[in-house]
Amino acid sequence: MKSNNFPIGIFDSGVGGTSIWKEIKTLLPKENIIYLSDSKNAPYGEKTKEKIINLSIKNTEYLLQQNCKLIVVACNTATTNAIKILREKYSIPIIGIEPAIKPAALQTKTNIIGILATKGTLNSELFEKTSTSINKQIIVKEIIGKGLVELIEGGKLYSKEMTTLLTYYLKPMLIEKVDCLVLGCTHYPYLIPQIREIVGAKIQIIDSGEAVARQTKAVLEAHNLANKDIISGSHQLFINKDKSVLEMLISNNSENLIITEKDF
Ligand code: DGL
Repeated sequence: MKSNNFPIGIFDSGVGGTSIWKEIKTLLPKENIIYLSDSKNAPYGEKTKEKIINLSIKNTEYLLQQNCKLIVVACNTATTNAIKILREKYSIPIIGIEPAIKPAALQTKTNIIGILATKGTLNSELFEKTSTSINKQIIVKEIIGKGLVELIEGGKLYSKEMTTLLTYYLKPMLIEKVDCLVLGCTHYPYLIPQIREIVGAKIQIIDSGEAVARQTKAVLEAHNLANKDIISGSHQLFINKDKSVLEMLISNNSENLIITEKDF
């Protein structure tokens, strides 16, 4: 088997990274993909940097054992805390995801942007570096979305608790004249309909999913690693907890896709 046929490996602290997997699958339909949902250890966002690094190494090692040709860290928290170490440690291409505050800074008219992300992301050195690199006139309102990932992982996407929590986090942004809201966690794109209900049509919601898919394509091509097969790729999703939430989020109706409960 040529290495071009080897899978792309994707991991997240849980089911949220499937928002990135969907973008990659759409842009690169021929690629075989293995996705790891480390739901047993979610949320990463409240863990220490050291713990996040260790979990990221564990996930990467597992994907390397499956012959992955490239890794996508589909988790802002793992990227901002661990990608430097992963890139130093492993020789295959590793792509990460960071909150899209640079694109938001280019689009804001009020010069006030909001970012909803985990504590681990907002407190990271990498995020600090990015947020200080944008135009100094722009005010960045940071909100830690504590509890949101737990509700999604618990299957409470559309629940009263979710509405209450989102309203509590987002209403102040309206008062503060935020006009761009950056979703800095890969779980949050699943909340867009509820977020829209709360903030209305005036705020632009920005996430990094499509950009990560485009970057994955560019890196595969630059390394001559793209799968040239004509048939569409196969998808294996592993989760180390009950798989029902994952099944609900991705509404599987393809025979090229298998979801397996597995400790990894
Ligand atoms: N999906 C994650 C992220 O993008 C992780 C959230 C968490 O586990 O706290 O940050």
